[in-house]
Amino acid sequence: MNGKKLNIGLFGFGTVGCGLYDVLKRIGSKNVEIKRICVRDLSKQRPIDAEFTDNADDIFNDPDINFIVELIDDADAAYTIVKRALQMSLPVVSGNKKMLAHHIEELIELQARYNVALLYDASACGSIPVIRNLEEYYDNDLLTSVKGILNGSSNFILSKIFNEKMSYADALKLAQDLGFAESNPSLDIDGWDSLFKLIIITIHAFGLYVAPEDIFTYGISNMNDADIRFANEKERRFKLVAHVEKLQGNKLIMSVMPQLISRNKYIYSVEDEFNGVVIKGLFYDKQFMFGRGAGGYPTGSAVLSDITACLYDYKYEYKKRNDSQMPTYTTDHSFRVYYRYSDYADLDLVKFESVSENYISDEYKYVVGKVSLRELHKVQDELRKRNVFIAAYPND
Ligand SMILES: NC(=O)c1ccc[n+]([C@@H]2O[C@H](COP(=O)([O-])OP(=O)(O)OC[C@H]3O[C@@H](n4cnc5c(N)ncnc54)[C@H](OP(=O)(O)O)[C@@H]3O)[C@@H](O)[C@H]2O)c1
Repeated sequence: MNGKKLNIGLFGFGTVGCGLYDVLKRIGSKNVEIKRICVRDLSKQRPIDAEFTDNADDIFNDPDINFIVELIDDADAAYTIVKRALQMSLPVVSGNKKMLAHHIEELIELQARYNVALLYDASACGSIPVIRNLEEYYDNDLLTSVKGILNGSSNFILSKIFNEKMSYADALKLAQDLGFAESNPSLDIDGWDSLFKLIIITIHAFGLYVAPEDIFTYGISNMNDADIRFANEKERRFKLVAHVEKLQGNKLIMSVMPQLISRNKYIYSVEDEFNGVVIKGLFYDKQFMFGRGAGGYPTGSAVLSDITACLYDYKYEYKKRNDSQMPTYTTDHSFRVYYRYSDYADLDLVKFESVSENYISDEYKYVVGKVSLRELHKVQDELRKRNVFIAAYPND
């Protein structure tokens, strides 16, 4: 690509597509141009005068287009577009974490087969360049864990609850009114968005792909006032934390769940719609990356950074996937949790290995105890349906 001009076929002109367009216009790039834009609904009014289409063929059959940027909100259609581009040896930049979390293994294989790049730094943590850093800088042997707040909407809600004493329902409504949360907020608050990002991060941190259905995922939608009171009494806050960690024996654990975070932790002070990622290693202890994880301009600028990287022929090499020491995934790991319930039948749902605190009142009950990820994963759908709330409760 060096010295070449990139003529982009852009799919999607929503928050991020528009953001990319404006960012490109503002910097006045000479060697990157958006040639044509494919959208779903051609009848919508668009704020710019550009060549729009609703037919993907108009992009793929245009001989001038030598680069694809995929920024649509439909994971199945995104998969078709990205696959088709790679099979035509057209480099692609994508922001679609859901699509990547499900199809990344096949897409890695296609990149190798057609010797073409697929970059997606914008898909995890928006403007924070976490993927390229994990890929290039952090050696697998030294890296021990990556943990963070990867979803801005749920963090915004938690910030409003803990800082402004807002109710959960009001905080969610405000997040939706301000455009932070989806109209169907489950993706954000039930942890799915964080899960997809965690899967992508783990590929680049440790080389291993783990399918979404194999990872314990639980969000904040069951949290109530009793839980918030408990956190305040302990001088902690709930944060929705995505976590991958290498244990002894080269085993990898992963989870997305609320965690009671104490004041001395970096992510305690990640507020509102911001994201924060803590990277831990054997010899450097901790490093912290912080920034805007969403929004048109922050994400658009991350997409532009990927586009520019392609100008210099950059590709993810997935070096850690070829490592003979690649870790293996396990759910065989126990840790301390806070578990609030009202009905004794709901307590029986989870098999605790030990219980260190047991509180009972007419209004609500809770236990603090040790449980394994395997146990939690087995009942994760049921946990969401019942009137219970569970959060990791680390000792420090
Ligand atoms: N929003 C963020 O801050 C953010 C951050 C990181 C990553 N992402 C990811 O970036 C992607 C785009 O997000 P967004 O927030 O920009 O979405 P959005 O505002 O909902 O816009 C989606 C765009 O995709 C178009 N579209 C949908 N299906 C299509 C299809 N089959 N063919 C062509 N165009 C199609 C829509 O067309 P119409 O305009 O005609 O409806 C619309 O322009 C998603 O994968 C999202 O997860 C978003």
